[in-house]
Amino acid sequence: MSTLELVKTSVVGVEAAAKVGISINGDSVIAADGELLVEAVLRHKEIPHICYHSPLMGPIQTCDTCMVEVDGQLVRSCGTKVTSGINVVTESKRAKDARAEAFDVILGNHMLYCTVCDNNNENCRVHNTALALNVEHQEHPFKPKPYEVDMSNPFYRYDPSQCILCGQCVQACQTVQVNETLSIGWELEHPRVLWDGGMQIGGSSCVSCGHCITVCPCNALMEKSMLGEAGFLSGMPKESLNKMIDVVKAIEPEMGYGAIMQVSQTESKMREERIKQTKTVCTYCAVGCSYDVWTKDRKILKIVPQHGDANQISTCVKGKFGWDFVNHEERLQKPLIRTENGFREASWEEALSLITEKLGKIKKEHGPDSIGIVVSSKTTNEDGYLMQKFARAVIGTNNIDNCSRYCQAPATTGLFRTVGYGGDAGSIEDIAKSKLVVIVGANTAEAHPVLATRIKRAHKLFGQRLIVADPRENEMARRANIHFRPRPGTDLVWLCAMSRYMFDHGHAKLDFIARWVNNEADFRKSLEPFTMEYAARICKVPVETLELIAQEMAAADTMCILWAMGVTQHIRASDTSTAISNLLLATGNYMRPGCGAYPLRGHNNVQGAGDIGAAPNIYPGYQSVNDPEMHAKFEQAWGVPLSPNIGMNNHAMMEGAYDGTFRALYLAGEDMISADSNVAWIAGAFEKLDLFVVQDIFFSETCRYADVVLPAAPALEKDGTFTNTERRIQRLYKALPELGDSRADWKITQEIANRMGAGWNFQHPSDIMDELASVSPIHAGVRYDRLEGYNTLQWPVAADGTDQPILYLNGFPFPDNKAKFHPVSFTEPEEQPDEDFDLFLNNGRQLEHFHEGNMTYRVGGIREETPERYLEISQDLATERGIETGRWVRVISRHGSLVIKVLVTARVEGKQVYLPLFSQEGPVNILTGSHADDATHTPAYKETAVKLKILPKQGDNPLRPLNFRYSGKPTPQTGVEVERKWKRADYRMPGTPKLVQIQPAK
Ligand code: SF4
Ligand code: SF4
Ligand code: SF4
Ligand code: FES
Repeated sequence: MSTLELVKTSVVGVEAAAKVGISINGDSVIAADGELLVEAVLRHKEIPHICYHSPLMGPIQTCDTCMVEVDGQLVRSCGTKVTSGINVVTESKRAKDARAEAFDVILGNHMLYCTVCDNNNENCRVHNTALALNVEHQEHPFKPKPYEVDMSNPFYRYDPSQCILCGQCVQACQTVQVNETLSIGWELEHPRVLWDGGMQIGGSSCVSCGHCITVCPCNALMEKSMLGEAGFLSGMPKESLNKMIDVVKAIEPEMGYGAIMQVSQTESKMREERIKQTKTVCTYCAVGCSYDVWTKDRKILKIVPQHGDANQISTCVKGKFGWDFVNHEERLQKPLIRTENGFREASWEEALSLITEKLGKIKKEHGPDSIGIVVSSKTTNEDGYLMQKFARAVIGTNNIDNCSRYCQAPATTGLFRTVGYGGDAGSIEDIAKSKLVVIVGANTAEAHPVLATRIKRAHKLFGQRLIVADPRENEMARRANIHFRPRPGTDLVWLCAMSRYMFDHGHAKLDFIARWVNNEADFRKSLEPFTMEYAARICKVPVETLELIAQEMAAADTMCILWAMGVTQHIRASDTSTAISNLLLATGNYMRPGCGAYPLRGHNNVQGAGDIGAAPNIYPGYQSVNDPEMHAKFEQAWGVPLSPNIGMNNHAMMEGAYDGTFRALYLAGEDMISADSNVAWIAGAFEKLDLFVVQDIFFSETCRYADVVLPAAPALEKDGTFTNTERRIQRLYKALPELGDSRADWKITQEIANRMGAGWNFQHPSDIMDELASVSPIHAGVRYDRLEGYNTLQWPVAADGTDQPILYLNGFPFPDNKAKFHPVSFTEPEEQPDEDFDLFLNNGRQLEHFHEGNMTYRVGGIREETPERYLEISQDLATERGIETGRWVRVISRHGSLVIKVLVTARVEGKQVYLPLFSQEGPVNILTGSHADDATHTPAYKETAVKLKILPKQGDNPLRPLNFRYSGKPTPQTGVEVERKWKRADYRMPGTPKLVQIQPAK
């Protein structure tokens, strides 16, 4: 069986496989038929296995340290599958000698200088194996490889001379991250790991996701932030360090490794005192990667992902390396109060007194509904819960909202209309196992990078089909089986045409619909206009392509549809989200694993911000504000009278500021000036407020308009929980103390509330979660002890702690347990290119920056790789206008203009231009208008027409040579291709007397 086949079978089907009996060292053992033998052996007896990482990575078979005898034959246990009745011996002399010999070969590639090595933290597999095998001397002398250490990436370095050629980095890059940068040059005289077949790291296609460093079993790949920091002696000058290494090597022949290792063991133990490892959850996107953060005092040494339910070993560049902002000199550390001459620092006492006095006065003079609160989707569930409770129970208003108004509210509306819960139907695991993934208007590889890796992997290794609808050729589009480019703002039409096709061609799941879905007749009637021909005409996609897509959908046993801001930032956003869910219902793609609707949430806790009731129409747990029963329930729970009226959303608050009905805003962790559309209009509204309080970690653009700025603490300085896009609730633990006088958001809100008479006494975020669980049925069984460490729960969580990784398995949360089709209709996008504004402006996130870059611009390495933004234009447009990459242009919309350099690229076509959101020079929303989705008021950011004015100045390419987009050329392989190593003339399988080409046992 080939290595690739072994990788496939190591992760697929083993859980469900039949149990068989085998013998290990004479003991009868039960194992799964077909699982990798190394897994069965390791459950029974520890043996070395340096290159074997996990079923996720599969067998790599490069190190030969896992040799055992099977029915008398010497085999690699990682490259062998369990079959019934096999007789396995791990402790025969032959097997032990083979393992020792294999390890000796490894030591020829790696110098054991552990005491002065930054990786000497009890997790180095080479060190641990040397100890386990009681290695005293080595037969193959260490030979450095004739290559320089590569320091060209801002975040990590590769030391070829320490590289044991295990290939785990390659396997991770090729089959888990699927960036396909790494390979091993097995045919080189001195094999080594290669980036893009032989480039230096900086400027290769490497996206700095860190998978390779995470899985490297030794110090060959290391985070630069660890170098000279982790060890007691490793920080000494290089010359002295080299001298020490020479001393160690000199005494090794006489003393043996045993004594030397004892010293390094002691040094490693001493590190435990000063290096703290704290479990946290990523603060960037809603994939919700969990990992340990290693800190030494306030220094962040590294991020170690391993056990996260959402991500396992995976991260992207932001989660792995994007942490400089936490200790950045620009962090707010004191409250600020506006004066006539700008801001001055103030004490908490003064700032809080000012706020509470003014809020009290405004409430008295203008009523509670003249005040509003905006909760951050970056803060914890507990922070958000207290803020919405403050609005409702202390101020007395439902004027409460969060930034899902800018992105996710339409998706939630579409799901509420059809299936009843505003969350992903299943887990990331379901997306990975689906037969067909359809991505509509989402740049998944850049906006949800780790989730994208699961699709790329399933597509590359397991035959998953992938369809991408996007006006721009992003990475997923490039990989897709079908990529098509509907005219912007018309997705609803082709989606409805798909539903109609299913009914017309006998592919609709009529039995499923009859049993589980209401309103079929009305829905089918509503589909009448949506013929393929109509869709082709409106969407500007050939009928043949649409039919091909329909056939793919009809043929797929399971289908997941993923969507994001390419859908939700149009005027028909809620209806398009509804059309997606309608199509999934028509094709029976709910109520099973591997199916369903997946709105890809943006911020780390945007799902949670909705769940805890940071919206004007819902209490925590999506309970209606205007349902008298819910109203009474919350009045009783909180012991105060509550407003029965639905409150104002973000947009309505701003309108209220203009008409004088809205006077005060308390805004946490939200840079509305950058995030909201039509910036000038928002700024005007801020200026009209009597009181504007902003709580943030940096002095954002929005802070400029504030009366009081309060310094908040970022995730690493807090306890709490985040809820990711899969409804997964995960704990984060405080890794660092709050910097300066900054405070966790929940503490600030509680202090303000108590000064206004609330009498709250929450001592810890767990107290807040207990209260949330008592009022919100979807959180009923959520408790901190059930979320200890890496434990997670996916809501709804029953009181006994049972959660629901897959929704709707037993029906839909409507009174009759059935879902419902919700008919929708199409109207043309609001702003279309015309004679005056002849280009369509698209915008979105970029991998290395998060949104506008408030945090990521404060990360040195990211800034180095991607310092300036640019406008992507097509080759056709560049030719038509006679311009090339680096040319400065003015982009002008009906609402504003900005000056920027162009980048000519094949990613965009024709008269569409693309502007990444990150910017230090001013937000993209200078250009966008106020038109919005009518159901949710989510701005139609992606319906903007612009024109270009070519400026005289020609500049450099805005991409830096260090950036992976500049000249990266990936080298796809299905894995590490160990077979090429086995073909080398100098390769001999340990335990064999002469050169052989071996095949793993079947
Ligand atoms: S993309 Fe770069 S950082 Fe990520 S696994 Fe590949 S080589 Fe390593
Ligand atoms: S750099 Fe790659 S091949 Fe070398 S030791 Fe690390 S994981 Fe193994
Ligand atoms: S930004 Fe998203 S994908 Fe990247 S590490 Fe954080 S949670 Fe994971
Ligand atoms: S662990 Fe089996 S060959 Fe490396």
